[in-house]
Amino acid sequence: MSTAGENLDVDALVAEIGQIAGAAVEAAGSATTQADLDAVRTSVYGRKSRLSELRRAMGTAPPEAKPVLGRAISAANSRVDAALAARAADLAGAAEAAQLERERIDVTLPGRRAPLGRRHPVTKVIQDFEDLFVGMGYRVVEGPEAETDWHNFEALNIPKGHPARSMWDTLYLSGTAGVGTTETDVLLRTHTSPVQIRVMQAEPPPLYIIAPGRTFRRDTLDRTHSPIFHQVEGLAVDRDLTFGDLAGTLEWFCHELFGPGFDIRLHPDYFPFTEPSAGIEVWWGDRWLEIAGCGMVDPNVFVAVGIDPEEWQGFAFGFGVERIAMLRYGIDDIRLFYENDQRFLEQFT
Ligand code: DAH
Repeated sequence: MSTAGENLDVDALVAEIGQIAGAAVEAAGSATTQADLDAVRTSVYGRKSRLSELRRAMGTAPPEAKPVLGRAISAANSRVDAALAARAADLAGAAEAAQLERERIDVTLPGRRAPLGRRHPVTKVIQDFEDLFVGMGYRVVEGPEAETDWHNFEALNIPKGHPARSMWDTLYLSGTAGVGTTETDVLLRTHTSPVQIRVMQAEPPPLYIIAPGRTFRRDTLDRTHSPIFHQVEGLAVDRDLTFGDLAGTLEWFCHELFGPGFDIRLHPDYFPFTEPSAGIEVWWGDRWLEIAGCGMVDPNVFVAVGIDPEEWQGFAFGFGVERIAMLRYGIDDIRLFYENDQRFLEQFT
C-alpha cells in the first residue's frame, strides 16, 4: 500500500495505526520476560517497522492529512509506551516477589546452636584470682616454666646445701631451655616464687603483682599429687607494709573466693624467703585445710634483687590452685583435672 500521493486514504491509515498500537499493547500484556518486551518495542519502533515507515511518509503527505496522522501516531506511541511500562513494572514486581519467596526466613525455627566450650576448673580458679586481685590494684604477670637455679632457689634465700631444698623435689633440665643460662643450673620451676625475683629485678617498688602458672615436682601421680600442678604467687612491696596488711588482704580474698561463711586462720610456718612465715588454712566442714603459704619478704631476698630492706617492706603468698578447685567443686582426685574426660569437664558451667 502506498503512503504517498494525492489520494491518500487518511482514515484507513489512522485505523491501521490504531491496529498496530492495539496489537503491540496486547503483545506487551502477555510478555513474560524483559526480552519479550524488547521484542515488542522493536516491532513498533524499529527502523523497519510499519509505524516508522508511516512516520517517514508523513513528510510527503498533503498538509491537511499531516496533523491527523501525527495525532494518530503520537496516540499510538503513548498507548504502546504505557503498556510496555506497565508490563515491565509487573515483571519486576513478580521477580522481587519470587526472590523474597526464595529467601524467605522462618524466624520461628529454633537457631542452630554452636556447641560452647567451658572453662577448665583450674582456669576458672585462676581467673577468679586475677579478677579479685586486679580489683585490689594488682597486676598479673608471668614467668618462665624452665627456670634457673638462682631464681628458683638462691635468690629466694635457699643456697645450695640448704636443707629447705629438700622441700621441693626438683626436676633438673640439661641444656639451656631458652632462658640463656649455662647447662647445669636449669630446672622446671618448683614453685611460682621465682616470678617475684624476676619482677623485683625488672621494676622498682612499689609493686603489687600476682603470678599464676604451672609448677613441677618429681612427684608420682596419685589421688593428691601431680608432677605438674598450678600455683598463684602474690607479692606486694611498698613502704610501711605490715603483717596486718598481709592478713587483711588474704582474709578479704578468701571470703570473696569461698563465700563469707568460711573462716580462715594463719598458723606459724617456715619458708626460707619469708620472715615471719605463715600457713593459711580454711575451715572446711570439720577440719582446717591448708591452702597457701605466706609471709613477710625476707630481707635477704630484697638484698638479692637490690632493693633496700630498710626502705621497703613486702609480703608474699603462694596458693595451690588444684587444692582450691578440689575444695570448691568437691573433687577428690587430682588426676581428673588432667584426663580431659568430657563427662568430668562438662559439669563446670
Ligand atoms: N613457694 C611456696 C611453695 O611452693 C609457697 C609460698 C610460701 C609462696 C610462702 C610464697 C610465700 O610467696 O611467701 O610451697
